[in-house]
Amino acid sequence: MTDLTSLDQASSEHNRIAQLLQKYNHEYYVLDQPSVTDYDYDQLMLQLIELEAQFPTLKSPDSPSQRVGGEVLEKFDSISHKVPMLSLSNGFSDDDIQQFDRRNREGLDLADANIDYVSEPKLDGLAISLLYEKGVLTHAATRGDGRTGENVTENVKTIRSVPLSLFELDQYAVPDVLEVRGEVFISKEGFEKMNKEQIELGEKNFVNPRNAAAGSLRQLDSKITAQRPLEIYCYSLGLVEGWQPSTHSEMLAGLKRFGFRVCPEVEVVNGVQGCLNYYQKISQKRDSLPYDIDGVVYKVDRLDWQSSLGFIAKAPRWALAHKFPAQEKTTIVESIDVQVGRTGAITPVARLKPVFVGGVTVSNVTLHNKQEVERLDIRVGDKVIVRRAGDVIPQIVSVNHNVRKKNLKPFLFPSACPVCQSPVEVKEGGVVARCTGGLICEAQLKQSVRHFASRKAMDIDGLGEKIVEQLIDGGLVSSVPDLYTLKIDQLTDLERFADKSAENLVQSISDSKNTELSRFLYALGIPQVGETIAQQLVDRFGTFEAIRNASVDVLESVPDIGPIMAEGIHTFFKDEKNTSLIEKLIENGVAWQEAEPVCRDDLASLPLADNTIVLTG
Ligand code: IVH
Repeated sequence: MTDLTSLDQASSEHNRIAQLLQKYNHEYYVLDQPSVTDYDYDQLMLQLIELEAQFPTLKSPDSPSQRVGGEVLEKFDSISHKVPMLSLSNGFSDDDIQQFDRRNREGLDLADANIDYVSEPKLDGLAISLLYEKGVLTHAATRGDGRTGENVTENVKTIRSVPLSLFELDQYAVPDVLEVRGEVFISKEGFEKMNKEQIELGEKNFVNPRNAAAGSLRQLDSKITAQRPLEIYCYSLGLVEGWQPSTHSEMLAGLKRFGFRVCPEVEVVNGVQGCLNYYQKISQKRDSLPYDIDGVVYKVDRLDWQSSLGFIAKAPRWALAHKFPAQEKTTIVESIDVQVGRTGAITPVARLKPVFVGGVTVSNVTLHNKQEVERLDIRVGDKVIVRRAGDVIPQIVSVNHNVRKKNLKPFLFPSACPVCQSPVEVKEGGVVARCTGGLICEAQLKQSVRHFASRKAMDIDGLGEKIVEQLIDGGLVSSVPDLYTLKIDQLTDLERFADKSAENLVQSISDSKNTELSRFLYALGIPQVGETIAQQLVDRFGTFEAIRNASVDVLESVPDIGPIMAEGIHTFFKDEKNTSLIEKLIENGVAWQEAEPVCRDDLASLPLADNTIVLTG
């Protein structure tokens, strides 16, 4: 608690703390080099807030306490930009870039000389204009229509990488007026985190980082904006009085000295070839960059050349956005099917008119579950936007409801399994709809056999998807143990089955009989039991009998097994269908070496037994 009595004393203490906070903030959010712990920073912030509560006149517009947000606004006022906020012309092909460079050289009478360009990532966020008067941030506005934007000052002040006041370094006096433009965005990681939190709160997901950033910046309650992971990179100037850099690169270096964050990927390159090389380099890096970009931007470096080239319509002649091929495309939903997985999970899938997006042709997109179908309100015949980012699975971003034809019927989620007609059930509190048919369901059976034969399970060479289909459709296999009674002549009766391949398959099925207990456990497809848990069960119990007879409590004592998984394992072994399937497999010759448990009951007497030790990092 501060016990300062005079305003003078309080004011100098306020100054001291505010400057320290500004320095720590800059180190953390702009330079990415923190010098104090979060705890120390928070303590210092609390001291500042207390001091301001005691002496309210100290609460200046650039006080670091402004970062936490303030009063709720009724609406945003509009602000007219003193210098219009322009957009950029776009180029897509190498030829477009060559033309841009040729026009610049002609416009500057340079004939054969090369131009230096500053090359920057084209950040996929939203443009913002920050006005500093006498070194203090006084206004922040969105781009709006380029002439008039919205006053979002209170929200922008909560963005930690936006300086509230400029750094004054001896040889670089702070300009009287400095309008800085940049892009506000949310990193890929920040976006993932935000969406996780939305799910926990039972709220709707954000569609992409750009929408999340735009939504966050347009909150009337700046305390909400303060919770959002907004960031900024600055890239140009508006109105400036008292500073005259001579190149764009010098200007960016100056912005860094004043405390602004500038994208570290910015480079000065020479001529059109330099631009194209930069484009290649950033394209390759795109997926590993921590934020979304949709191209690169080239800007003539010399500012006097920029002025002589001037503008056409709403874009400068001296700059060009070289856009990446679109990763979002529009297409039509041809049908909506449901797939039945190994555990009976019913997944709706949109079949699309094939569309080339993000480097691949997409014709099937998972719709995940019933909730997602309802959220999108997607119907057969709808126009949809498909997105594919990097090697992430394609997704439907949105449905264009405005152009929907009349009479498109809502998709009815099935109440019976489309394969075996058993009822579909959603467990209480869950989202996954499941077919209740178990292994009488051919779809589940096919997936189970595939899983049983897979490399990390029984490792049956040659038993691929197509053959599993043939075996089940041909009635040769109606449950997993039937694999072990297959005869060569039964296989050769099947279409396209040569003698040799029938022989090989029967041999590899037979070879799989001698296995390891962990493989066998994994192959059974016990809910949530992957290879690691299977191995842990073997380590803990050693024998199959010990595992199948373990109580829920005992199962829970295994590392990584929680109450739900323990219950699932226990229930699996109590189920009669499963017991008889296991007996048949054993009868048919499946066998394994029983091991000594690694983790034995006598370990319970050791000094740290029953202690929980938590390591944090
Ligand atoms: S410069 C006078 N540089 O792209 C030039 N813009 O399509 C003004 N953008 O509204 C913009 N990254 O929101 C510039 N490195 C970058 C950029 C960038 C993204 C956005 C900006 C602008 C839009 C124009």
